[in-house]
Amino acid sequence: MVKGHLTPLFLLTFLSGVELLKPKVLYVREGEMVVLHCHLEAEDPGLFWTLPSGQRMNQTSDTSASADQSQKGVLIHGQSLVVLHASLSHQGNYSCTLGNASSQIWFRLTVYSAESSEYKEKNQYPATCFTQEPCMLYCPAANIPCTNISGINSRGITWSKEGETSISQSHFPSVQQNDSGVYTCNRSYTYKGQTYYKTFAVVLHVQISEQLGESVILSPKQNQEFQVDRGATVVIDCKAVVTSEADEVFWLSGKSFVEKDDSLPVFYNYSWEQGAKDIEMTASLIFKKVSEDDLLRNYTCELQSDHQISTFVTIVLTPKARDVFVSVIICIVGIIVVVFVATAAFKFKIDIALFLRDTLGCYGTPPDGKKYDACLMFYQSSSGVELGKADRKWLESVLEERFGYSLCLQGRDISEDNESECIEQSRTLVLFPSSSDSHPGSDLLLKIWAVVAEKNTCLILIKPETKQASSTESASEVVQHLSRAGNCVVWKGRSSMELKSSFWKLLRFHLSAPQHPPKLLPEELTLADHCQHV
Ligand SMILES: *[C@@H]1O[C@H](CO)[C@@H](O)[C@H](O)[C@H]1NC(C)=O
Ligand SMILES: *[C@@H]1O[C@H](CO)[C@@H](O)[C@H](O)[C@H]1NC(C)=O
Ligand SMILES: *[C@@H]1O[C@H](CO)[C@@H](O)[C@H](O)[C@H]1NC(C)=O
Ligand SMILES: *[C@@H]1O[C@H](CO)[C@@H](O)[C@H](O)[C@H]1NC(C)=O
Ligand SMILES: *[C@@H]1O[C@H](CO)[C@@H](O)[C@H](O)[C@H]1NC(C)=O
Ligand SMILES: *[C@@H]1O[C@H](CO)[C@@H](O)[C@H](O)[C@H]1NC(C)=O
Ligand SMILES: *[C@@H]1O[C@H](CO)[C@@H](O)[C@H](O)[C@H]1NC(C)=O
Ligand SMILES: *[C@@H]1O[C@H](CO)[C@@H](O)[C@H](O)[C@H]1NC(C)=O
Repeated sequence: MVKGHLTPLFLLTFLSGVELLKPKVLYVREGEMVVLHCHLEAEDPGLFWTLPSGQRMNQTSDTSASADQSQKGVLIHGQSLVVLHASLSHQGNYSCTLGNASSQIWFRLTVYSAESSEYKEKNQYPATCFTQEPCMLYCPAANIPCTNISGINSRGITWSKEGETSISQSHFPSVQQNDSGVYTCNRSYTYKGQTYYKTFAVVLHVQISEQLGESVILSPKQNQEFQVDRGATVVIDCKAVVTSEADEVFWLSGKSFVEKDDSLPVFYNYSWEQGAKDIEMTASLIFKKVSEDDLLRNYTCELQSDHQISTFVTIVLTPKARDVFVSVIICIVGIIVVVFVATAAFKFKIDIALFLRDTLGCYGTPPDGKKYDACLMFYQSSSGVELGKADRKWLESVLEERFGYSLCLQGRDISEDNESECIEQSRTLVLFPSSSDSHPGSDLLLKIWAVVAEKNTCLILIKPETKQASSTESASEVVQHLSRAGNCVVWKGRSSMELKSSFWKLLRFHLSAPQHPPKLLPEELTLADHCQHV
């Protein structure tokens, strides 16, 4: 069948030697421009056009003076025939032929009246856009002058929408459904001072775009902390719900991509599950062995989509609680050490102070008008460890000769009954417990207390060691007051007589340095000597 149909055409072509082609059918509206493009591979000189009237035209033909209506406003440029202003007289069959008649192309031009609904139908070009999306209207370019036609200059395109008077836009950043309709684009040209044009109708159909839902990362949360063990295998899943298969979920380490290569120490793999409306994607970040270096990096899960901007979630890796526990332990140990050192320093502050005093020979407190370092007085006590008469003599000599204190002694330096003067003349008043009778009772102690406060004298109260809380000692309220007002040193009887006992250390500590260096300081003499000569 097909073969039989083809054979006559083939034969005809073969016999006549002329290429027989179906005519090209063209339509134009009255008053508009139309261009017939003849695509023959031939040099210009050999090409001529045959008009509906049967007249031949070549490039040199001058149609301006022609009597033939169908030749008016027709010009030939290269291989194209231009009808500048179509009228019904231009309707008919056109052909372009090579000079030796070896090829010929036929055109059938139909000219429609301006109001023709048939033309409108034929001249429509559809366009489809989707709501909320950018939309660009393109003006067709059928049968219009190619830019190559000299003398015919394009003046551009104007758009109008059917039913609207103003100039319409052809580019919609976000097209609406009510933007649908018939748009007319008018391509206009000038030739020899005259304006010619051709219009096209573009029918825009705006469809409601199938709204793509938002693609989101479900987990992890931004800045979520993952506690990991060093050296452990860790998998962190980044789960996302995406609405397009083109969406991608992947991991970044700092700013570089994590690879999918599972031979690497850190990589990611990927799986997805199709849901009813969306796709759940999981990108698992896998650390084969968490290294110290891994803990220093930031890891980011990124969701990249072609219909929305990318979203990110950055996570933080922190060493697990066990490591935190270790650091807490270290912290606690550190605190204990500090406390221990501080306590030791405090505990031995007396030794340290005395050592510095003895070795560096820092004697002589600034003059304050006081004649004596200390004034010794005795108060009545009955605890059993109080000092007897011999003890007192021993005490005085140790303080004066061994440690170099200048003492104000009643009966020796000051008259027996002038306590206040002794206190006044001394930097410190040292009150010793005494068993002997003739020593201050409560009344006198009160008086002493008043003088101490008034004369700016320091007070050191030597208290006998008490075994029971409710001893007779507690009865002496004045002593209690005095002990609160000054420094207390406990006298433990025999054991306190040792010069290296805590009693002596504390007493010397509270007494501050004597004004003059001690006369004899057997073991430390050399050091002190040295210090003073430097
Ligand atoms: C063009 O047509 C004219 C007659 O109209 C003729 O004299 C002339 O030779 C033709 N030119 C060419 C190149 O065919
Ligand atoms: C054009 O040619 C066709 C045959 O190809 C013919 O049927 C038609 O009548 C012609 N039209 C005019 C206007 O001459
Ligand atoms: C006609 O001329 C063209 C080139 O212009 C050439 O290719 C073709 O063979 C010629 N045909 C005949 C029948 O002379
Ligand atoms: C315009 O001319 C150039 C050469 O000058 C050619 O390559 C091009 O195909 C021509 N364009 C048209 C539309 O004819
Ligand atoms: C089209 O509809 C939108 C609302 O959807 C409205 O804002 C706009 O003014 C309308 N445009 C026209 C030309 O009616
Ligand atoms: C097309 O534009 C030209 C020049 O701008 C104008 O003269 C002509 O009337 C317009 N045609 C239509 C159909 O609007
Ligand atoms: C990802 O890799 C890990 C470790 O190699 C494996 O356990 C897991 O099954 C993998 N998941 C997918 C979805 O391939
Ligand atoms: C990790 O991210 C935080 C903010 O999220 C930033 O301050 C820090 O500099 C980042 N660290 C590295 C190593 O990129």
